[in-house]
Amino acid sequence: SLFPLIYKLNVKRNLSHILWFPPGPTALPIVGNIFTLDHKRTHESMTELAGTYGDVYSLRMGQRWVVVLNGFEAVTQALVTQGDSFSDRPSIPLHDDIFHGLVFSNGNTWKQQRRFALSTLKYFGFGKKSLEPVILEEFTYTFSSSLSQCAGKPFNPHLIVNNTVANIICLLVFGHRFEYSDEQFKKLMKLFEQGTQLEVSVSAQLYNAFPQLMRRLPGPHQKFKRVIEELKDFIRTEVKDHKQKWDPSDLRDYIDYYLNEIQTDDSTFDEECLFMSVLDLFGAGSETTSTTLRWAFLYMVKYPEIQERVQAEIDSVIGQSRPPSVDDRADLPYTDAVIHEVQRMGNIVPLSLPHVTNRDVHLRGYTIPKGVTIIPNLTSVLFDKREWKTPFTFNPGHFLNEEGKFVKPAAFIPFSAGKRLCLGENLARMELFLFFTSFMQRFTFSMPPGVKPVLDYRFGVTLSPVHYEICAKPRHE
Ligand code: HEM
Repeated sequence: SLFPLIYKLNVKRNLSHILWFPPGPTALPIVGNIFTLDHKRTHESMTELAGTYGDVYSLRMGQRWVVVLNGFEAVTQALVTQGDSFSDRPSIPLHDDIFHGLVFSNGNTWKQQRRFALSTLKYFGFGKKSLEPVILEEFTYTFSSSLSQCAGKPFNPHLIVNNTVANIICLLVFGHRFEYSDEQFKKLMKLFEQGTQLEVSVSAQLYNAFPQLMRRLPGPHQKFKRVIEELKDFIRTEVKDHKQKWDPSDLRDYIDYYLNEIQTDDSTFDEECLFMSVLDLFGAGSETTSTTLRWAFLYMVKYPEIQERVQAEIDSVIGQSRPPSVDDRADLPYTDAVIHEVQRMGNIVPLSLPHVTNRDVHLRGYTIPKGVTIIPNLTSVLFDKREWKTPFTFNPGHFLNEEGKFVKPAAFIPFSAGKRLCLGENLARMELFLFFTSFMQRFTFSMPPGVKPVLDYRFGVTLSPVHYEICAKPRHE
C-alpha cells in the first residue's frame, strides 16, 4: 500500500534513505510494529524476525524507527568497526526526565563520566586498593549470617545474593558495607527493587510514547520518580557525610574521588551528576551480577554432574583450607568455562541497551539515517548458530579446546562491545568468579525434594530466572 511509503517519506529525509533503509514487517498506523512482538519474550521475537528479514531489519515502535542488529557479524560491525557512528544513546523521555548520570548520557558528559568511572573502578578493583579481599570478606558474611541459617532447608536465594552483591557497590561508592539487618540497607534494597519493577511497567512505556500527557497524569510513573528521589536522598546523606570528612590526601572511595573532580573547573562533574552516577552503578552493577549468580545456581542443580566436576576441580586446585583467589582462575579452566556458559545461556541483558545513529551510516548494504534507534540483539549473538556448536544446550565445552584449556570465542559478548561496552565488566567477572567458586567450595546445591528445576525466565530490567527455592548443603561440617 501507499501508506508505508508516505509514512517513511515523512520520517526519512531523501529517496536513498527510503530505498536503502533496512526492510521489516509492515507497520500499522500509530502503533507501528508494537504488536508484531511478543512482549513476554521480545528478544526471542526479535531473533525470529531476523530469519525473515535478515540480520539488519527495521521496526516502527510507536513514533520511533528502530533498527535491530542480529548475529555476531552485524552487531560487531556496527558497534566496533563503525563504533563512532553508533556510540550514542537515544533520547527516551522517562530517562531524559530523570537520569542525568552516565548510562544514558551522551557527548562530553558521557565521555568525562565514563572515563572517571572506569579509572576509579580500576583503582579500587585491580589497582592499589584491590576489591578481592573485600569480595571474599563479603562472602564470609553471607556464609555466616545468611546461608548457615538456611543449611539444608529450602530458601529463595534472591535476597541473599542481592544483598551480597549490593554491598560490594556500597563498599566501592560509600566506602563501607552494611549489616544485612540494618534498617537503612533494607530500605535501600527495597527502593531498588521497586525502581526496577516500575521501570519496565506499562506506565513507563506509555510515558515514553506520550511524555507531555503522562508528565501531568498520576500513575506508577510518578511513584517511580518518587522512588528515585528517595534513592537520591539516601545518597545525599552519604555525600554530606563524605564532605564533612573529606581529605584530599586520603581519598577513600568513589564519592571522595568524585568530590575531588567537582573542584576542577570546566568539567561536567557536579553533585546532581554524582547522585545519578552512583545510582547508575547500583542499577547497572547490582541486579546484573546477582541475576547471573542466580542462573548459576539453577544450572548447577539442573546439571548435578557439572556441579560435581566443578567441585572436584576446586578441591584439587584450591582445597578447603583457603579461599579462592583471582590468580586461581588460570588453573580452573572447567570452572571458568562453566561461569562463561552460565553467562551465555543466562543472557541477562538480551537486547543490550539501546544506541542511536549520530550520523547517516551505511551498514551491510543499507542506509540508516541519523537519529534511528539501534537495538544490538545480544541474544542473536550468544545463540548464533554460526558461532556456537550447540547454541541451545548448556555446554561448557563451548569454552574449552581439545586439550581442556579455556578459550573465549569472539562471539561471547554478554557485556556488549565497542565504545559503550559495559564498564563494570572486569568487576563483574571478578565477582562472578570469586562468589561462584566460594559457593561451590562450601556448598552443594540441590532442589527441594520432589521439585524439578525450571529454567524459565522473566523478561524485566534483566532476563532473570523465575522465582525458585533451593537447598544448600554444606560440603564440609
Ligand atoms: C552497560 C552488561 C555488570 C556498569 C552495560 C551493557 C551491557 C552490560 C550489555 C550495555 C552496553 C551497550 O550499551 O552496548 C552487564 C552484565 C553484567 C554487568 C552482563 C554482569 C554480569 C556491571 C557492573 C557495573 C556495570 C558490575 C558497575 C559496577 C555498567 C555501566 C554501563 C553498563 C555504567 C553503561 C556504559 C555506558 O553507557 O558507557 N552492561 N553489566 N555493569 N554497565 Fe554493565
